[in-house]
Amino acid sequence: MDILEQISLKSYNTFGLDVKAQHFCAITSKEDIEQLIKKEWKNFHRHLILGGGSNVLLCKDVEGLVIKNNIVGIEILKEDENNVWVKSYSGTTWHDVVLFCVDKGWYGIENLSLIPGTIGAAPIQNIGAYGAELKDVFVELEAIDLETASTKIFTKEQCQFGYRDSIFKHEAKGKYFIFSVTLKLSKQPNINIAYGDIQKVLEEKNIQSPNAKNISDAVIQIRESKLPNPKDLGNAGSFFKNPEITTTEFNRIQQVFPQIPKYDLANGNKKIPAAWLIEQCGWKGKRIGETGNHAKQALVLVNYGNAKGNEIWQHALHVQQSVQEKFGILLEPEVNVIQ
Ligand code: FAD
Ligand code: EPU
Repeated sequence: MDILEQISLKSYNTFGLDVKAQHFCAITSKEDIEQLIKKEWKNFHRHLILGGGSNVLLCKDVEGLVIKNNIVGIEILKEDENNVWVKSYSGTTWHDVVLFCVDKGWYGIENLSLIPGTIGAAPIQNIGAYGAELKDVFVELEAIDLETASTKIFTKEQCQFGYRDSIFKHEAKGKYFIFSVTLKLSKQPNINIAYGDIQKVLEEKNIQSPNAKNISDAVIQIRESKLPNPKDLGNAGSFFKNPEITTTEFNRIQQVFPQIPKYDLANGNKKIPAAWLIEQCGWKGKRIGETGNHAKQALVLVNYGNAKGNEIWQHALHVQQSVQEKFGILLEPEVNVIQ
């Protein structure tokens, strides 16, 4: 395990930002990370763990040590008539775990197909799409304490999952290396096709009783038609979270903007699509220098090729400010902004 110096991170982040890591180390085993913590940690005042780099905005060169997680593997822990427990090491590509399960005919994560990145980062923001979230199938994770190198198990309850949220964005932020994640899949059809265009795509293909693979294929088709592929256009998916507002606040805004879309939440609040708010402010498809808002999805900020991280961040702040001025809603970044 070598610690390298002045390594370009361009191919390690999906915005394609050409910043440098002052020190860089790729790890492939539990021993690697334990050794790193015990022997090297104190030599660096800052650390940044990178999985697929698909949810970070690297504003400038990264001081300290960047740890690229290459610990991969998928294991079946146990199974019974109805369920199977699958443990994956944290550097495994999320979509590889999806394909592994879908190919076996197991249900639970087919709606989460094609989300970029590693399974180790998935619990951090409780990844979600098309009416499903990681927490629906999550059992536990193994984390390594970055101070003591000891291993700790986090159960679903301990992870405190919420919408794009978990304990790893709050009191446990920056304190652990997530080493493995265990999911519980269902062997029985347990499908959810109510969200978005899934049903429509299945009907177009004349599929009446979809299996996990059919749903996964439909989700892949929808995602590919909407979201830019980072290989073609640098981006990190939705830049902001969809804001949650009270009914009183919603009624106030609806009086001025009667067409405002919303999802009703169980707690009585409303969730508003940030993409709509941003589009109403005139940002959709707008290019400012090397950055801007994607033409098909206003919530996705893009790098046209030569953007600097800080340029994208300044643009994000302009977008945030204009939404606040027009609607009185403060958008919260979903992407981890590393300054
Ligand atoms: P990274 O970007 O490498 O890291 C994200 C954060 O987690 C960083 O703070 C990092 O330090 C930390 N981290 C990473 N690995 C570990 C670890 N092993 N231990 C401790 N900390 C760690 N997200 C959704 O929820 N739903 C979507 O539909 C969705 N669609 C997307 C579409 C596109 C085109 C893109 C580019 C992104 C999309 N995302 C989506 C966001 C992103 O894919 C997820 O957040 C994903 O889980 C990030 O994984 P990663 O390995 O790339 O994390
Ligand atoms: N809309 C606009 N303008 C646009 C795009 C969308 O007004 O340019 C409005 C429309 O009313 C549309 C609504 O926004 O019906 C929702 O749009 P979309 O279905 O594209 O979903 P989203 O809310 O923008 C969320 C997640 C995505 C996830 C999709 C599908 C967040 C922040 N984003 O996007 O997750 O893939 O739903 O479930 O919750 C990510 O987190 O990076 C991500 C891509």
